[in-house]
Amino acid sequence: MKLLVVGATGTLGRQVAKCALEEGHQVRCLVRNFQRAAFLREWGAELVRANLCVPETLAPALEDMEVVIDAATARPTDSLSIRQVDWEGKLALIQTAQRAKINRFIFYSILHADKFPHVPLMDIKRCTEAYLAESGLPYTTLQLGGFFQGLIGQYAIPILEEQAVWVTGESTPTAYMDTQDVARLTLRALVTPETQGRTLPLVGPRAWTSAEIIKLCERLSGKQAKVTQVPLGVIKAGRQVLRSFQWTWNIADRLAFAEVLAGSYPFTAPMEEVYTLLGANPDDATTLEAYLQEYFGRILKKLKELTYEQEKQKRKRKKPSPFKR
Ligand SMILES: NC(=O)c1ccc[n+]([C@@H]2O[C@H](COP(=O)([O-])OP(=O)(O)OC[C@H]3O[C@@H](n4cnc5c(N)ncnc54)[C@H](OP(=O)(O)O)[C@@H]3O)[C@@H](O)[C@H]2O)c1
Repeated sequence: MKLLVVGATGTLGRQVAKCALEEGHQVRCLVRNFQRAAFLREWGAELVRANLCVPETLAPALEDMEVVIDAATARPTDSLSIRQVDWEGKLALIQTAQRAKINRFIFYSILHADKFPHVPLMDIKRCTEAYLAESGLPYTTLQLGGFFQGLIGQYAIPILEEQAVWVTGESTPTAYMDTQDVARLTLRALVTPETQGRTLPLVGPRAWTSAEIIKLCERLSGKQAKVTQVPLGVIKAGRQVLRSFQWTWNIADRLAFAEVLAGSYPFTAPMEEVYTLLGANPDDATTLEAYLQEYFGRILKKLKELTYEQEKQKRKRKKPSPFKR
């Protein structure tokens, strides 16, 4: 298939591009910056420069494509807002896909997006789901929870570096998933006609609270976490203050999302129907234990080798010279 991946430099998008190339598809990646996307070309993808927020760049990117997999979202560090990228940009992409007569459009939403109308990203995801469903495009929407990859920066690295791990008192159990599994199942959805016109959850095998993830990281790293609790009230107050200044809207919107993760709505969903539909085996899904074990095993081995090298250098420097001074 001829496949366009939007957001291919991102955490999930790169796994989608990699998996599609490994499965022998012809992959084109819509990217904003060729330098940042050089690794995709090395993997065998074609690169096309475009920007969701510059609508006239989209048609050439979609030319001659059969499938669009949209894994883009506003970067927290970007000057473009969630509204510009995830709403206006996505609308432009869907309209371009309609004109290009795309055979399948895959959109990644967030689980329970309809339950949080006061949270900008959730509301935008809900509206995009509805817009896509009414567009007439053959679509599949996959509603995701969180990614294993995000837990490395949030928990694993601070614990290894003996830095503070920030958590809110209340933590929603979340069925995090490995992005490699999300990519693998996305490509299965493409070849499963029954997924067309459907909105399906795609979450990991088990829901975890922050306390459980911290305990797991402590066990695998052999280190004790320095946990700092941020009361939910502080996040809410911070959001109100930041909302008062336009230049801090992006931060305010992300703090609103932190409230979602600290809420009481579990980010999990039954997956039996999805696995049956896709003809996939749920036992093939990577568990968080296995993912973190591999991560800590690799990092601790590297640290051991580094310490050994440093000790060796030290001993070399200390060795007395055989020559008299
Ligand atoms: N992360 C999660 O835990 C999570 C949970 C649920 C759902 N999701 C959804 O899963 C999808 C992938 O998320 P992710 O975390 O993998 O994203 P990510 O790592 O933040 O990557 C975002 C991607 O979007 C691209 N992008 C941003 N603005 C763009 C623009 N104006 N034009 C073209 N491309 C643009 C970025 O390109 P540059 O490299 O040029 O910046 C990057 O490739 C998103 O739809 C997200 O909402 C994520």
